[in-house]
Amino acid sequence: MSNLINKNVVITGGNSGIGYATAKKFKQKGANVIITGRNKTAVAKAATELDVEGIVADQANTDDTHNLVDTVKEKFGSVDVLFINAGVVKFAPVEEMDEAQFDDIMNINFKGAFFTLQKFIPILSKGSSVINLSSINAYTGMPNTAVYAASKAALNALTRTAAYELAPQEIRVNSVNPGPVNTAIFGKLGMPEEAFNEFAGVVQERIPMKRFGEPKDIANLVAFLASDEASFITGAEYNIDGGINVNPILQ
Ligand SMILES: NC(=O)c1ccc[n+]([C@@H]2O[C@H](COP(=O)([O-])OP(=O)(O)OC[C@H]3O[C@@H](n4cnc5c(N)ncnc54)[C@H](OP(=O)(O)O)[C@@H]3O)[C@@H](O)[C@H]2O)c1
Repeated sequence: MSNLINKNVVITGGNSGIGYATAKKFKQKGANVIITGRNKTAVAKAATELDVEGIVADQANTDDTHNLVDTVKEKFGSVDVLFINAGVVKFAPVEEMDEAQFDDIMNINFKGAFFTLQKFIPILSKGSSVINLSSINAYTGMPNTAVYAASKAALNALTRTAAYELAPQEIRVNSVNPGPVNTAIFGKLGMPEEAFNEFAGVVQERIPMKRFGEPKDIANLVAFLASDEASFITGAEYNIDGGINVNPILQ
């Protein structure tokens, strides 16, 4: 994918996990990369390690997003790849999910993603690629994930509509739906380690490939969707999940 050389790339939530691995991949391919995150120290550390630019911006805060676009415009002029990756997971049964948690998930994963896309449109170049980081949870009925799943289903709905609306401007919009990936996100669930290990073991057993994804697995797909080799792909969703979404009916 040599055609990523000198592409201007913005990755939200690039100081950790999938965003970090994707920033690394794009940098290796010769792109100019800006990452964002909420935590000043974490963003600065990752930006130094990756030798990219880091900007503090909370995806849930539309003023931050507005300022982010202004700063990116100053630095890059225009953007060729926008990877809307920042997101959070909080698990709770429907009966126990409180309003603050509901708002936090939706404000970051959907509302924030929506306004990130909206505010970047004026500086997206002709032929640019937007990738929304969703989840296979968008299509599952996994207990405790109602709000997270809804936030990602909404994101995929945005992908389809935006792909159609932005096609005349030659802007492609796609979603990537990972299954479980080895990142810090699970550590943020507040689950005791033993309970998490048990959960991870059960999940891993359900995956035909018998492993969690690695952040670089997702980065490889994002880099492909960002490249000119994917120039006829828009409004699409890609599951990347080791096969967990397959319903075998019989084993
Ligand atoms: N890991 C999985 O199994 C999995 C599966 C399917 C989908 N996903 C999705 O993949 C994306 C990346 O998650 P990950 O697994 O790589 O987790 P991660 O390691 O926790 O990374 C999440 C990144 O998003 C940032 N972030 C969170 N809230 C933010 C906000 N309001 N504004 C700006 N940045 C914010 C985090 O930075 P700070 O919190 O430090 O600000 C961090 O850089 C998420 O959208 C997640 O829903 C993950």
